[in-house]
Amino acid sequence: MSIAIDRDRLISEIEALASISEADPPVVARIVFTPSDLKARAWMKARCAEAGLTVREDPVGNTFARWNGSDLSAPVVGTGSHIDAIPNAGKYDGVVGVLGGLEAIRALQRSGFRPKHSIELLIFTAEEPTRFGIGCLGSRLLSGTLSPDAARKLTDKDGANLDEVRRGAGFGGELEQVKLPAGYYEAFVELHIEQGPLLERQQIPLGIVTNIAAPASLRILVEGSGGHAGAVLMPDRRDALCAAAEIILAIESAALTSGAIDTVATVGICEVFPGAVNSIPSRVRLSVDIRDTDLQRRDRVMRTIETASRSISAKRQVSINLELLNADAPADCAPAIIEALSESCHKNTLTFLPMVSRAYHDSLFISRISPVAMLFIPCRNGYSHRPDEYAAPEDIARGTLVLAETLAALSK
Ligand code: GLV
Ligand code: MN
Ligand code: MN
Repeated sequence: MSIAIDRDRLISEIEALASISEADPPVVARIVFTPSDLKARAWMKARCAEAGLTVREDPVGNTFARWNGSDLSAPVVGTGSHIDAIPNAGKYDGVVGVLGGLEAIRALQRSGFRPKHSIELLIFTAEEPTRFGIGCLGSRLLSGTLSPDAARKLTDKDGANLDEVRRGAGFGGELEQVKLPAGYYEAFVELHIEQGPLLERQQIPLGIVTNIAAPASLRILVEGSGGHAGAVLMPDRRDALCAAAEIILAIESAALTSGAIDTVATVGICEVFPGAVNSIPSRVRLSVDIRDTDLQRRDRVMRTIETASRSISAKRQVSINLELLNADAPADCAPAIIEALSESCHKNTLTFLPMVSRAYHDSLFISRISPVAMLFIPCRNGYSHRPDEYAAPEDIARGTLVLAETLAALSK
């Protein structure tokens, strides 16, 4: 069986998908359930149908495109990733795993291979937390990590809840139907850009992920007292933004002093109310992202942030409320899938680096219900979540080839 990746077609599809965006090139932005996301979904479904795949969508919009195997009762071999993109994103995050997954299936079809297990491409809804504040919404529901009741309470910045937004986008049915039955998957493999610099720096073409780091996120609401920026004297102030500034630095210091380079913490959003130059900030909301490869260490950092917040609250006479949005455990990848990926690398004389994924991915949640593994390809300067994100065509094609061979080995 000889498997050939149609690199030019795959690259032109990546370009075509990038043009469906709510921002001007080179920026890509596709926030879940916005017109650009819906247009991109329709475009993807047409590509899947062209490949002869049977497409179904669940009530939260997770999209499954299936190539039937010879044994329809056998568990499915899955691949896929996401096509939603954060504001100011690039072309490759998630998309390489979706279009690479589709091309891997097409390459297997062209080779004459016939799988025993059905092979299914999965396009996850809202891997990015932009709209509802929590990442991997689709895979959390598929794996039962997030309950339908908790999901129904999620709201976007305009106060619209998930049910209203998804129904408005055309996804009906109940969220209870999203969770996959036990034993659905034989295996799940996700292809992704590394989003870090290690492969490029070491000039290694592929990374095989052994573990996915543990993410957590918090919202911190600081409430002080507003007033006139000229008239209220400094000793009388309870400025919420000044308190938030101290919290941000405490978060940075908690990560820096954790004792490991693997601890990272970011305050990516700072919303200031009322947001007028001549008004003392009365309220600030911070969105915080904390990750580590070690769960205990990550949780210690979170406790340090809580303690620091209490002392800043007392010192500055502001109220500080911490809301935990998620605190997930890390995942181990499945040795059998790692073995299948390694075998394909050996066969193609490709070196690979066993590595930890510091970014989270839908595979983290699918690991709760299925054996999973991930394959990384290099990206220029390790850049991701920015418009100059770039992965070279030959790296994308190499990753897709190894993905295709691995899907074949797992679905025999
Ligand atoms: C995924 O986009 C992440 O933030 O790790
Ligand atoms: Mn991302
Ligand atoms: Mn991603």
